[in-house]
Amino acid sequence: MIRTPLTELAGIRHPVVQAAMGYVSGPRLAAATSNAGGLGLIASATMSLDELRDAISETASRTDAPFGVNLRADAPDAAERIGLIIAGRVPVASFAQAPKPELIAALQDAGVITIASVGARRHAEKVAGWGIDAVIATGGEGGGHIGAVPTSLLIPQVAAAVDIPVIAAGGFFDGRGLVAALAYGAAGIAMGTRFLLTSDSPVADAVKQVYLAAGLTGTVVTTRVDGVPHRVLRTTMVDHLERAGRAGQVAGLLRAAGNAAAFRGASGLSWREMLRQGRAMRRDTELTWGQVLMAANTPVLLRAAMVDGRPDLGLMSSGQVTGLIDDLPSCAELIEAIMAEAGRCLDRLAAVRTA
Ligand SMILES: Cc1cc2nc3c(=O)[nH]c(=O)nc-3n(C[C@H](O)[C@H](O)[C@H](O)COP(=O)(O)O)c2cc1C
Repeated sequence: MIRTPLTELAGIRHPVVQAAMGYVSGPRLAAATSNAGGLGLIASATMSLDELRDAISETASRTDAPFGVNLRADAPDAAERIGLIIAGRVPVASFAQAPKPELIAALQDAGVITIASVGARRHAEKVAGWGIDAVIATGGEGGGHIGAVPTSLLIPQVAAAVDIPVIAAGGFFDGRGLVAALAYGAAGIAMGTRFLLTSDSPVADAVKQVYLAAGLTGTVVTTRVDGVPHRVLRTTMVDHLERAGRAGQVAGLLRAAGNAAAFRGASGLSWREMLRQGRAMRRDTELTWGQVLMAANTPVLLRAAMVDGRPDLGLMSSGQVTGLIDDLPSCAELIEAIMAEAGRCLDRLAAVRTA
């Protein structure tokens, strides 16, 4: 057993968090993680309010262990989502962006632990000053929307800057990584790509196989999809968007619109809902219609891969770590293996010191 400020704070057996992944981390994956002694997080940004309500009750029915809901603090219906978290007695609320101090206080008053994701030291300092309970600091090798600082530099910097538990993310997959994170001053690790590649993850096998086949250089950070840096698997579609110049941007936009139209039927989303989701994916409020269209397209493309099982058409967020992963264990097998390896690693290090 490894006890850290994170295991103490969240009441979990192991300092391992399953990071939020839109369309991937629903009740099944989150509950499997929590049942294995980690902390599972439901990704709610791609869910409607009703879907979130159902996801909370399904997760609670699948596990007695603590779990959390990840949400966007700037979502138009954030207050209702918080209401569902409190009413559902969800132990942890995690935020993709900094929640305001009043929001943190309201959740804490209701007994909910608050965690915010950060990609830079100044963001960690800001939310720590506002009273957040813990931060997930994600380095640039991570999957999805990311910052520019690599994990090996971000974690020691953030851990030295704040007094609250820091959960290290971006590139973790094994017990050695957990020990390295602890050495940098973190209180645990969060993993996205590694949990996507488990037998408990709901993603279609055809899509998982594309991730497993990717090498360490198989991902790319692109701003061509929704205007902000997004690490995804390098596919023909992404290569095309990346190569396109200014003229190509217009073509890319048209193609984005075409894709959106093609997937609208499959996704069952209305244009209005698509645009709502697209807007919600953007951090800035001042968007051109072109940007909104591109952002609106992102969840549709993610959904095509993650829900509809179409790696050829969809967008696959992925950390670089996909290049080091070649199996699909259950969450229980994964966490058990990580903890066993971390134990061996600590023993080895202790032996080095006494030798
Ligand atoms: C398929 C996928 C989907 C993701 N979706 C979200 C999301 O909806 N919201 C979010 O805040 N982060 C999202 N992320 C980022 C993860 O929460 C986490 O920061 C990242 O996976 C950590 O890096 P790793 O993949 O190297 O473990 C996603 C990541 C992946 C791989």
